[in-house]
Amino acid sequence: MIEGLFIVLEGVDGAGTTTHAGLLAKSLSTRGLPVHTTHEPSDGPVGHMLRQILSGRVVVPGMHGARPPSWTTMALLFAADRMDHLEAEIHPNIRDGVTVISDRYDHSSVAYQATTGGGDELTLAWVKELNKHARRPDLTVVLDVPAEVAARRRLDRCGGREMYDDDDLQRQLGDFYREIELHFPKDKVVHVDADRAVEQVAAEVLAAVREARGEAPEN
Ligand code: TYD
Repeated sequence: MIEGLFIVLEGVDGAGTTTHAGLLAKSLSTRGLPVHTTHEPSDGPVGHMLRQILSGRVVVPGMHGARPPSWTTMALLFAADRMDHLEAEIHPNIRDGVTVISDRYDHSSVAYQATTGGGDELTLAWVKELNKHARRPDLTVVLDVPAEVAARRRLDRCGGREMYDDDDLQRQLGDFYREIELHFPKDKVVHVDADRAVEQVAAEVLAAVREARGEAPEN
């Protein structure tokens, strides 16, 4: 059995990873490829808890009242969710020859948890160490958008504010994502300008995947 590909979409909040994971899955399955879409935080038990933390439903007691867990706790939880996600969902599909598209993966941990942890070398090294057993994707597509565009898209979304919904943090994350390949020197990482019409971005994401599959560009 030939293994399926493992494709990851990444970017700041508002970059469009969820939209483009869905569109890519549709394009590939229309072309006859078996595809499974998934996301992190995953639908597993740790992923569920993470979603409750991100939305503010789960907090920890602090000296001055309830607060969100620290970046260290978040880094551990995201890494645990990732290992569970790999075992329960990603690996079984890939082994069955299904291409897996994940909306976010360990680049998010290196970006978000290391940045909220101060962004120094020791912090980065620790977050990377926690994720060192995470299978490498065959392709990571980073959706680049200017900070103001991402901020506007976040405002337009329905739903409450989430833990990392802060313009300054998201600007730092945008800078980090622009050079994320420096942190994953062995990975194949492609950047796509996502500040364009959805169809144009989707076509470029698909072209990057076709190239990774060794296919000729479509006309
Ligand atoms: P989600 O609602 O899925 O946001 P989006 O649709 O923009 O992807 O929430 C995921 C949030 O979790 C997002 O703010 C990024 C954050 N995150 C981390 O901080 N570390 C991680 O390892 C992952 C996977 C996500």
